[in-house]
Amino acid sequence: MGKVLSGIQPSGQLTLGNYIGAMRNFVKLQHSEECYFMVVDLHAITVPQEPEALREQTEAVAALFIAAGIDPDKSNVFVQSHVRAHAELGWILTTLTGMGELERMTQFKDKSAGKESVGAGLFVYPALMAADILVYNADLVPVGDDQKQHLELTRDLAHRFNSRFGEYFTIPEPYIPEVGARIMSLDDASKKMSKSNPNPGSYIALLDDPSVIRKKISRATTDSGREIKYDPSAKPEVSNLISIYAQVSGMSIAEIEAAYEGQGYGPFKKDLAERIIEVLEPLQNRYYEIRKSGEIYDILKRGAEKAAAVADRTLADVKKRMGFLAT
Ligand code: TYM
Repeated sequence: MGKVLSGIQPSGQLTLGNYIGAMRNFVKLQHSEECYFMVVDLHAITVPQEPEALREQTEAVAALFIAAGIDPDKSNVFVQSHVRAHAELGWILTTLTGMGELERMTQFKDKSAGKESVGAGLFVYPALMAADILVYNADLVPVGDDQKQHLELTRDLAHRFNSRFGEYFTIPEPYIPEVGARIMSLDDASKKMSKSNPNPGSYIALLDDPSVIRKKISRATTDSGREIKYDPSAKPEVSNLISIYAQVSGMSIAEIEAAYEGQGYGPFKKDLAERIIEVLEPLQNRYYEIRKSGEIYDILKRGAEKAAAVADRTLADVKKRMGFLAT
């Protein structure tokens, strides 16, 4: 049994991109692996967050994990800041990371572009992410395509530590879905679907009402043709909708193209909205039940205790190897 770790930021409404790119694989992997899934609040504060909104979103993301099918008896579900070893190992790994390596991170470049002032936390963010993964010696990290570069840095840091202080860290592998690793925005297929996009029409939120989902899909940008054909360079918008369709229906791209041959975008979009609703409605019902029951606090407490037992051991080993005086 391998170890799996991943995290999602509580910074806005989770989207269908988060679900298809990451969460669905969390649910899949928990049956065969030892899993750690967390809400990464320490990462969320690398950009300003309103305290009340941060609290609400942290609880919401944790409840969405469970609503999506993560079984708290199988997986450890917790909040990053509840396990202190993350921040401490994060600092230690920051000291092993080069400025040049951080400057090359495309997520940093995107998030800092055009901003007058950028917090230092946003810059060192990838070292904390490396700590999240290495503190459990995770073998596999289920993520969407946009986290690939952070995973590469994590692997480099693990190698660097091992060569300086002796073989210790497992070198983690990314686990990225073949289709759906990069769900694009509904209004612009050159940008990824993102919860931080100010236009809510650009994404499907996991908690959107069916009526909102229908409206967003019917308004999704398409080209002026009418053919349902998967061709990301010539028809990026329609291709994005086809990948979403494939992911929510389990059909292959060829099956979808065949099913809508000669039918135009109207019927395709209508069915797509219904397929999305079929997947999200049961998840939403479970979500509201979980929020009402208050059970999430107990789940998060248990999850953090079990995670901390593992993480604290790693941190103690790391500190010993690096020459920290024992307490
Ligand atoms: P975050 O919160 O931005 O996104 C959570 C997960 O969702 C995936 N994702 C997508 N996948 C497909 N299409 C999209 N449009 C899309 N948008 C988001 C992301 O790739 C991610 O897997 N740095 C991470 C959080 C993190 C983490 C970690 C992940 C912190 N520590 C340790 C793995 C391991 C982030 O900001 O994800």
